[in-house]
Amino acid sequence: MKDQLKVIIGKRALKEKVKELANEISNDYQDKNPVLVGILKGSFIFMADLVRKLQIPHEIDFISVASYGSGKHASGVVRWLKDLSINIEGKHVIIVEDIIDSGLTLNYIRSNLSTRNPKSLKIVTLLNKKKRRQIQIPLRYVGFSIPDEFVVGYGLDYNEKYRNIPYIALPGNEKVE
Ligand code: IMP
Ligand code: MG
Repeated sequence: MKDQLKVIIGKRALKEKVKELANEISNDYQDKNPVLVGILKGSFIFMADLVRKLQIPHEIDFISVASYGSGKHASGVVRWLKDLSINIEGKHVIIVEDIIDSGLTLNYIRSNLSTRNPKSLKIVTLLNKKKRRQIQIPLRYVGFSIPDEFVVGYGLDYNEKYRNIPYIALPGNEKVE
């Protein structure tokens, strides 16, 4: 299974980029005690690595939405599966996303969270697929811009597989529909 994967962003590049993003966030949010909101499930590895490199006090929380059934493209229909446990009113919130493709999922999440009156609301995404964007969303921190190809690993799945692969890869010979 593993040998069919084609690495596009290796372990070391991921590690360096996550450190860079954590440094930037640490500088920007000094004394702001931000709440980092991870979007499950895809962001769980990125989130775990990112917060361990932060050098400032912060809180974490998660929400879970379903945007992809089992295929490759977002439908635009977002199902809310798990809500925040923290009240974000008056707090500085950073949404932590694994990848932004059409932008439909994040746009929905962002609108929803903004109705709760956070003091600020920014986005950090590890990967950005600009080509298929349908809705423009301001992204404060971006790890890597990647071409319009379906990728897996480092939290990202294809039909729930490959989340544990420690790098970003193309699923190779596996047929992705
Ligand atoms: P969007 O609504 O089209 O921006 O889709 C965003 C969500 O779709 C992400 O949070 C991922 O969970 C998933 N997704 C988009 N592209 C990929 C990919 O290349 N691999 C795995 N999941 C993806
Ligand atoms: Mg996601």
